[in-house]
Amino acid sequence: MRYGFFDDKAKEYVITTPHTPLPWINYLGSEEFFGLISNTLGGYCFYRDAKLQRLLRYRYNNVPRDTGGRFYYIKERGRQAWAPGFKPCETPLDSYECRHGLGYTRFLAKKDGLESSLTCFVPIGETCEIHDLTIKNTANVKKDVLVYGCMEFCLWNAVDDSQNFQRNLNIAESEVEPGVIYHKTEYRERRDHYAYYASVSETAGFDADRDTFLGREGDWSDPQMVRNESSGNYYRVGWYPIGCHRLEVALEPGESKRLTFILGYAKNPRDKKFIAPGVIRKDTAKRVIGQFSDPAAVDAAFEALAGYWDGLLAKFSVESGDETLNRMVNVWHQCMVTFNMSRSASFYETGTGRGMGFRDSCQDLYGFVHIVPDRARERIIDIASIQFEDGSTYHQYQPLTKRGNNDIGGGFSDDPLWLVGAVCAYVKETGDFTILDVPTPFNNVPGTEVPLMEHLRRCVRFTVEHLGPHKLPLMGRADWNDCLNLNCFSEEPGESFQTFGPSEGPVAESVFVAALFVKYAGEYAGLCETVGLDDEAKAVRGQVETMERTILSEGWDGKWFLRAYDAFGAKVGSSENDEGKIYIEPQGFCALAGVGVSEGYALQALDSVRENLLGEYGAELLAPCYTRYHVELGEISSYPPGFKENGSVFCHNNPWVIIGETVLGRGNYAFDLYRRICPAFFEDKSEIHETEPYCMPQTVTGRATGEPGHAKNSWLTGTASWVFVAVSQAILGIQPDYNGLRIKPCLPDSINGLTVTRVFRGAKYIIRIKRTGTASLSADGVSSENFEVPVKPAGTVTEVECTI
Ligand code: GLC
Ligand code: GLC
Repeated sequence: MRYGFFDDKAKEYVITTPHTPLPWINYLGSEEFFGLISNTLGGYCFYRDAKLQRLLRYRYNNVPRDTGGRFYYIKERGRQAWAPGFKPCETPLDSYECRHGLGYTRFLAKKDGLESSLTCFVPIGETCEIHDLTIKNTANVKKDVLVYGCMEFCLWNAVDDSQNFQRNLNIAESEVEPGVIYHKTEYRERRDHYAYYASVSETAGFDADRDTFLGREGDWSDPQMVRNESSGNYYRVGWYPIGCHRLEVALEPGESKRLTFILGYAKNPRDKKFIAPGVIRKDTAKRVIGQFSDPAAVDAAFEALAGYWDGLLAKFSVESGDETLNRMVNVWHQCMVTFNMSRSASFYETGTGRGMGFRDSCQDLYGFVHIVPDRARERIIDIASIQFEDGSTYHQYQPLTKRGNNDIGGGFSDDPLWLVGAVCAYVKETGDFTILDVPTPFNNVPGTEVPLMEHLRRCVRFTVEHLGPHKLPLMGRADWNDCLNLNCFSEEPGESFQTFGPSEGPVAESVFVAALFVKYAGEYAGLCETVGLDDEAKAVRGQVETMERTILSEGWDGKWFLRAYDAFGAKVGSSENDEGKIYIEPQGFCALAGVGVSEGYALQALDSVRENLLGEYGAELLAPCYTRYHVELGEISSYPPGFKENGSVFCHNNPWVIIGETVLGRGNYAFDLYRRICPAFFEDKSEIHETEPYCMPQTVTGRATGEPGHAKNSWLTGTASWVFVAVSQAILGIQPDYNGLRIKPCLPDSINGLTVTRVFRGAKYIIRIKRTGTASLSADGVSSENFEVPVKPAGTVTEVECTI
């Protein structure tokens, strides 16, 4: 069953009913101010940090679900109120449409001869949301309409806001001016920022106290003031601050009116916070409100946003006969959202938890480096700055302070190697070798700066210096799989699987990190060769070869690669085990890294994935799933069979298998797996899949649950960047390299030709790929034996013909 459709021309997903299986969301904002917005206007917004600087209160685990957000009420005098996004009133609408676009969401509704259109977006360069509402009278009688726009403020720190009530209920402060409510809690002390909610049209009344507005027993679906068609015109210190405006609109038949609301954040210089005792400086808010009082300025900001997105998307697009492939690659790749949010704020990540993950941020970068290379450069330096001198790294850092997170610390064996991948991806994309010279500190300690290249050297060295009894890399707290905690041995509830126990044991080893080493130490050697460090390149190549041989001798189980050795030296992911006989990660990553390809092991490993792990919705993480808690394995066995790391389709690792299939030249299998995990291809099963059909989820219940196919944790997942890499570089085969673009498509039989438009270092390449049975490549008529198109001057257009 579908709940909407893709409007490819408008680059929108159009949801045609508010009754989606889960809230289907979108993201607003592109720089510092961000909002989450559901298809029923739920969600919240924040300035830079979803935990510390949150503007809107949101209630987790609430019923009805998705409570909190932007509350709009439309009420013709004497009739029932309704909402342009269905909630919170839930009054049935005559028609409803939610259009999630790039950086904006538009709600279209009709009710009893009134039509509303509400567009929410964050203008480029501003720190506010605009809610642009137009109401039209389509009846042939005059209508007197009341419009209420309402927000419930969060007291900034979203964790305190939901916990510390003995304090919270005494600290709220607001100021009210005609048409604007300023939220200034804690401004009297250490904050220098405030929020404001404004109506640019004339208002008839306001509310700033929640209980007055809702009524003592009231709720958002039926506020007392709306029911009574009035306002409290009352604010007070403490309790629950809101911003609410009542507007009265008279509409002649056929007439429409545009009402713009602005919800913003503004900051003042510390020494100029007040303009009179207790009165805050409002210059910024007034400038923004003044500017957007002009509807032409709202239109211009909306167009600028569209232009911004067109610029981002123009870097890579494909025209194939497959419209689903086109739309997922060209519009809905989701990589800018993982760039902006990492894993912080979605409907599954509260925005109050972890900061930016080291490995997550590195891998996300693989998907957006071609879109925003400058911002990728800055991100790389931030990430590298939380590395320790021995090459290990903090596992997470806080985006506001850019400091490593001590609660979780370090000790994750895979983290350093992903940084090598990120830097190589950046240099290949941009040709900017100067990044390698940037003085970069360890653990942010001033004075410890060394060139970034030295950080990479230590990343590689860390693995080589931390090998176990089989000469495979030590596991540490975990590797990519956060839940395979082989040194943890936790027996008490509440202990963190990731931080309990020693950060490293002398025995537990990871075959996956060995494959990661082959891939990224290999990349490092390639980088050394490119910059003329030949001796170092040779030495590292030697280490890579040794590791490859070790995997084939110590890490092979007969039909697939082993996953690990545990703290007793026993095999994990082996046919010898009762449960967890085969894991996906080493199969995909070994094939991707080229391990065992010439020996036939990689082929056998990927055949084993198809035979043992492949279900309708993708390849599951392991089989058979653990049915009991294994203290020697850790969190992975804490999940019921078929959930999360215990054998769900954990989408993030499927693209490794997809890329591995292309290494083996199996385009059909690669594309088949891509289709299985990419929800746009089974939009008609949305009632099973449940999360948004226009973005990837993290996890989909496995067959062992008895209810396969239910997705969770959509939007913020490493799946996004890896799927983009798999499609763009492995299936379509457009691979940025130091000296040019390498073109090596591996297409399924269902695709005989396509055109990719790629902007690479400022030059445009129009690449036409045709299936003829013979492989060839030419650029502007010049044929290329090595399937590489050299770098062309910025601003030029090159026509590339590729046959396969
Ligand atoms: C989550 C984490 C990621 C980890 C994965 C597997 O996606 O964000 O860091 O690799 O789970 O455990
Ligand atoms: C926790 C979760 C696990 C997730 C990880 C991400 O360990 O239980 O499923 O992958 O965090 O960091």
